[in-house]
Amino acid sequence: MKSTPIPSEVVNEVIDAFGIHPAGKATIRELVKIVNDIEGITGEEYIRMEMGVPGLDPTFVGTEAEMIALRQGVASKYPNIEGIAPLKEEAARFVNLFLDVDVKPMNCVPTVGSMMGGMAAFMVVNRSDQNRTGTLFLDPGFPVQKQQCLVLGHQFGSFDLYDYRGNKLRKKMEEEIEKGQYSSILYSNPNNPSWICLNDAELKIIGEISMKYDLTVIEDLAYFGMDFRKDLSQPGVPPFQPTVAKYTDNYLLLISSSKAFSYAGQRIGMIIISPGLYDRKYKDLKRYYSSEKFGHAMIYGALYALSAGASHTAQYALAAIFKAVNNGTYNYIEEVREYGAKATILKGLFQKYGFRIVYNMDLDEPIADGFYFTLSYPGFDGPQLVEKLLYYGISAISLGITGSTRTEGLRACVSQVRRDQFKVLEERLSLFNKNHPIPE
Ligand SMILES: Cc1ncc(COP(=O)(O)O)c(C=O)c1O
Repeated sequence: MKSTPIPSEVVNEVIDAFGIHPAGKATIRELVKIVNDIEGITGEEYIRMEMGVPGLDPTFVGTEAEMIALRQGVASKYPNIEGIAPLKEEAARFVNLFLDVDVKPMNCVPTVGSMMGGMAAFMVVNRSDQNRTGTLFLDPGFPVQKQQCLVLGHQFGSFDLYDYRGNKLRKKMEEEIEKGQYSSILYSNPNNPSWICLNDAELKIIGEISMKYDLTVIEDLAYFGMDFRKDLSQPGVPPFQPTVAKYTDNYLLLISSSKAFSYAGQRIGMIIISPGLYDRKYKDLKRYYSSEKFGHAMIYGALYALSAGASHTAQYALAAIFKAVNNGTYNYIEEVREYGAKATILKGLFQKYGFRIVYNMDLDEPIADGFYFTLSYPGFDGPQLVEKLLYYGISAISLGITGSTRTEGLRACVSQVRRDQFKVLEERLSLFNKNHPIPE
């Protein structure tokens, strides 16, 4: 038995008790539990790269606004499901200033995080036509969105976007769409987990396809503005976060406060319903909702049934954050840039000890440094590598669970790794490399 930084008996015992073999097949939250248990028994701190938890303090203007709202007594009142007026106004301004797209406050509706935005989107889009029931995912992606389709009983399909970048995208999407009975297309941009960033030419293709086949695009902007190669931080000044909203009338945007504003704990996000979709009528929606109008079904059907709106105080927080960002008094990108800076160092360390970056190119440029990166190590598949690294005090998830075809890989999230852990990470990686020499 080779010596490992975390006693192998403890790792074995916890994995056995969990009953998932290899442990790399576990979901994100299951891995969190496995690592918590091992840390609890050994007292040894892990380099935690399995879950995308923001590693920064929550945006101050948000917490202040939320406390004021709480003191003013909003906690006793049900919030309007459509959202409070200042939030709707500032969200519409944000979309205009940072995406260069015109929407009205009525098109901007708060959700309990983008998780709920996705669920509500599936509940309405995938029920708008009785002959079409599912979502085409441009993978790799965020695994729980497929779980949402599963629990709703919706069909889904996917392909690995990495193999079909640029002009290849149109043909591949058309082939997939003709095979399936899709109502919607979903992708995240920047992409969790590969961190590829779709450009305007590709978004134009997606937009044109959505119009041609009458599909709704669900664009997940969980990492809004976080392609740090460009400065996307100035309100109303190009370049803007690229978006499909420029190329189709048939879109929903999911804007999360979790990563951009480090506000994950308050579970607040926005769904932006395109003006073209908001008043559109789908007679098949009447099977589930009181109205055949898309926007009405979304708000008074899906969101009402899910939670009857988003937390009142968190809405005040997000309104204040958007206002500060829109007015240019708070530059959120300056804060989250730290993730990119840490990614540069972390990727360098892993590569020094024999790891490879799996999704390493973004069209003809090297992949940007951001919130996630992907790794492999010769001789291991993804789930085995996830399990092996647990003995070295490093946690990550397998790419297989993200819909990736790169099953040799894993996803590493930089956010929770502290700079003071770089030294211990290097020691652990060096030992891993020594214990698993790479054949010449
Ligand atoms: C691509 C993607 N979409 C959605 C979410 C969920 O966002 P929220 O915290 O707003 O529910 C995440 C969180 O990790 C994500 O990575």
